[in-house]
Amino acid sequence: MENTFLATAAFGLEGVVANELKRLGIPAKAEQGGARFTGTLAQAFEANLQLRTADRVLMILAEHEVYTFEDLFQLTSSIAWERLLTRDGMIHVSGKCVRSQLMSVRDCQAISKKAIITRMQQKLGISRLPETGTRFPIDIAVVRDNARITLDLSGDALNRRGYRTWNGEAPLRETLAASLIDMSPWRTQMPFYDPCCGTGTLLIEAAIKATSKPAGLSRKFACEDYPFMPKEEMAAVREKAQASYSADAPFSIAGSDLDPEALKLCAKHIAQAGFTGKITTSLTDLKTLTLEGDTGVFLCNPPYGERLSDLKHARVLYGELGKLLKRHPGWKMGVITSDAAFERYFGRRATKKRRLYNGRLECEFFIFE
Ligand SMILES: C[S@@+](CC[C@H](N)C(=O)[O-])C[C@H]1O[C@@H](n2cnc3c(N)ncnc32)[C@H](O)[C@@H]1O
Repeated sequence: MENTFLATAAFGLEGVVANELKRLGIPAKAEQGGARFTGTLAQAFEANLQLRTADRVLMILAEHEVYTFEDLFQLTSSIAWERLLTRDGMIHVSGKCVRSQLMSVRDCQAISKKAIITRMQQKLGISRLPETGTRFPIDIAVVRDNARITLDLSGDALNRRGYRTWNGEAPLRETLAASLIDMSPWRTQMPFYDPCCGTGTLLIEAAIKATSKPAGLSRKFACEDYPFMPKEEMAAVREKAQASYSADAPFSIAGSDLDPEALKLCAKHIAQAGFTGKITTSLTDLKTLTLEGDTGVFLCNPPYGERLSDLKHARVLYGELGKLLKRHPGWKMGVITSDAAFERYFGRRATKKRRLYNGRLECEFFIFE
């Protein structure tokens, strides 16, 4: 049986997630907030296990116009919760209301939860739900009078790969790093270099791509505890994903930074991700960086100079990035920053630009080919 799912994405990255799903053989369509696909529960599990760029995978349970609390109650009651949840399941309802007649998130949450409990009690013939067992995160999103009720299959957000247990200064979210890599001109057989690698997120995400490592291989997903998920098929999906992981695939991924503390964290993250000895890093100021050998792609997330006092330094560094690219004919470069004047300080106009967000910060991804 097929269901409809939404692999959620940060603003501007919906198409990147849809393309990643398509590469997994799952036809998907980008829409606001993510990429929608129809498939089996095993495919939804595969999406959780493999996707590098999505934030979560949600199962869409119902979608309909709602104008009153009664409409919302009826819509929530129409879902066969007794087939989805366990008797002792902990029902956690989150919500949002945007430009709709129903604008009280708290009331929408309460009404939906009441509808779920009432249906469970009636269908199972029980008077009390202890809510002591598996947690079921359910979301009610009412946007322009359309309600969408979803069950989160991921649990912890998918950026939690498990390799980052220490946080450096301003690390890049793993899913954003993976998206920048997908949007960049880098192909896995080319050299990849991050000249301000910090704690190593871009380097590790590039290695995950180069080795076809399932991004969530070392973690668990909420849906693994859901009773309706096909356990055997999920085990087969995991086995197949593990088999397609070419841990020994050759790649050339390296980086440098001038902060020794960041490089220490970087080494720990590389070890946690299983790439020790394969990704090389060094303590180098990018002003003096010169690389020999084949041409490739520089990708980096330099300081943005968000505080005015830091902006001058950041802009000097943008000029240095421009010179770095000039010193390396044939190389390409991708840079993400929130500084709209970036190209002026870099010294060249970008070949392509993509607007996106790094957390709450509006940024642009500049590509120089
Ligand atoms: C925003 S952080 C990068 C974070 C990184 N993407 C991560 O995931 O941790 C910017 C990095 O640029 C480094 N940096 C600043 N000036 C530099 C320079 N001249 N040469 C090399 N690295 C520099 C900083 O030390 C810092 O680690």
